[in-house]
Amino acid sequence: MTARNATSNDDAGSRERIPRHLAIVMDGNGRWARRRAQPRSFGHRAGQKAVRTTVEYCLRRHIGVLTLFAFSSENWKRPDTEVGALMDLFLKALDKEIDELHQNEVRVRFIGELSAFSEALRTRMHAASLRTAGNTRLTLNVCVSYGGRWDIAQAARRAAEAALAGEIDPASLDEAALAPYLCMADVPSPDLLIRTGGERRISNFLLWQLAYTELYFTDTLWPDMDATQLDNALDDYAHRERRFGCVPDPVTARAS
Ligand code: IPE
Ligand code: IPE
Ligand code: MG
Repeated sequence: MTARNATSNDDAGSRERIPRHLAIVMDGNGRWARRRAQPRSFGHRAGQKAVRTTVEYCLRRHIGVLTLFAFSSENWKRPDTEVGALMDLFLKALDKEIDELHQNEVRVRFIGELSAFSEALRTRMHAASLRTAGNTRLTLNVCVSYGGRWDIAQAARRAAEAALAGEIDPASLDEAALAPYLCMADVPSPDLLIRTGGERRISNFLLWQLAYTELYFTDTLWPDMDATQLDNALDDYAHRERRFGCVPDPVTARAS
């Protein structure tokens, strides 16, 4: 990774229009492989390079939080061979990338139902999180065995436990009171969601957190994602008017 040396897209002048939190549904690996008459696992391996490119890009553009959807709650339903290949890839990727991520001051976290993974993988994920916990340049959330419905359900369960323990009053459990129990409550909600691979759906990603996120869909398959494609998504985002249910700002409206 050469994030520290990168220059071409250093664009401090337009930082306010850059998302603080970028979330990505990395889709299209299987089709990328099929077009090359290769097994789906070949596409997953190729997708790793796009992850590196994206992390470098976020470091260069001063994006503070990157959340990647790597494996959904529903992806366990895929054939054993594909799930096995993905688990193998996660293990190898962790061993291969963690030193460089740490050098680049990236805090890495794994978000999802981690108890579903093997002991070996859980140990590696835990060690990587612990090692990088003090890094502040970029927070990289890797969503694995993650589902938006699972997230809301686990938040509700933990809130119910707190109520049973007398720590909170169930009658006061509104949105603001439930929010801290959701995964990633310590970072702002995503400003921009990119989904590669051509499908226009959320596929049970961050259902709560995406309430006011700007959505960007591209036909590019994940292994083909590069800095130019990311620039396109960010340019598009920079021209969105985010209203959050309000009316347009009169000053901005007059100027446009
Ligand atoms: C995304 O690519 C990676 C995972 C879901 C693990 P896919 O494997 O879904 O690729 P397509 O959508 O079948 O092309
Ligand atoms: C979403 O992609 C999950 C990840 C990218 C990890 P899927 O390929 O699983 O989604 P569907 O099946 O097309 O909705
Ligand atoms: Mg897919």
